[in-house]
Amino acid sequence: MLILAIESSCDENSAAVIVDGRLLAVETRTQTVHQPYGGVVPELAGRSHLELVDEVVQSALKTAQIQARDVDAIAATAGPGLIGSLLVGLNYARGLSNALSRPFYAIHHVEAHLWSAELSEGLLPLPFLVLLVSGGHSQLIRVDRLRCYHIIGSTLDDALGEAYDKVGKLLGLSFPCGAEVDRLAQRGDACRYRFPTAMNDSSTNLSFSGLKTAVAYKIRDIGIEEAVTYKCDLFASFQDAALTAVLLKTKAAVQTVMPKAIVAAGGVAANSELRARLKAFADKQCIPCFLPSIQFCGDNAAMIGYLAWKLLVNDEITTLRPLAKPRWPLEQLMSETTSE
Ligand code: KG4
Ligand code: ZN
Repeated sequence: MLILAIESSCDENSAAVIVDGRLLAVETRTQTVHQPYGGVVPELAGRSHLELVDEVVQSALKTAQIQARDVDAIAATAGPGLIGSLLVGLNYARGLSNALSRPFYAIHHVEAHLWSAELSEGLLPLPFLVLLVSGGHSQLIRVDRLRCYHIIGSTLDDALGEAYDKVGKLLGLSFPCGAEVDRLAQRGDACRYRFPTAMNDSSTNLSFSGLKTAVAYKIRDIGIEEAVTYKCDLFASFQDAALTAVLLKTKAAVQTVMPKAIVAAGGVAANSELRARLKAFADKQCIPCFLPSIQFCGDNAAMIGYLAWKLLVNDEITTLRPLAKPRWPLEQLMSETTSE
């Protein structure tokens, strides 16, 4: 079964070819048009998808050394995400599926993140706990099996990736800032500036907006000159407070869920310090820890094609009308029928 997949929910243009659950090719481009704005500009994201969707698809097909007519099915992200961006990928996929007379499968973006570690790590033991941390999501989710998910905790305000982006922006980094903050923090001293751990209790919810404000106040107090001079220390101190909270909540969730594995997902799962801390924590608890390889952490079409294949072989999906769903709660997936 050869699946062509497209991901266009936000600011990554991505296409992939999956054969029987194995990745043949993936082409992912992070849009650079948003760099001056400190965040994703929806209109620009949609336009960029329009410009690049055909190019990334053709590039993935070329790397896989196949023609479009060789594919057995086409899958695309249907939501949640930016409406303009989703529509581009979905309509492209619909056009292709009509032209080639192949079935189309609509995929839930967050559900695809949940299973993304299987692309590099193989089948995960059930039930597992996913720490999903990206620019739009920060959640702890228990996965009992396909289509059976329970949200154990969520951020009450900003997502973790959003906090990295906002703190990076305060010191002039260009968007998205997470990877650069990660790199600079590795050289920093996390003890120079101390920030409080948000929601330092046994609940499983997260919060990052207070920390972001605390960093902004610290920069105001010490002055921009000192802040720039010691930016590595500032980033290391911010990261230490943010990840201390993340690990605290993961620990609380593990106590509630008693999972067979701890799994990371989403763009921030690429963070070197988060990976090290999560692994060390899981080792201490004697629970296996699965970290997707870096290319499968952020948004990518490989996870979309992989989930489509997994749903297909488990008879959990039928071909759908390609409706874009900018809001599509994960909980809804379990209650809705797969055919519309
Ligand atoms: O999953 P993703 O590609 O898109 C969303 O669904 O948001 O995640 C993007 C987010 C951005 O906020 C980016 O700054 C962050 O992930 N990010 C990182 C790292 N790499 C990407 N944050 C911290 N450390 C990293 N190494
Ligand atoms: Zn995502």
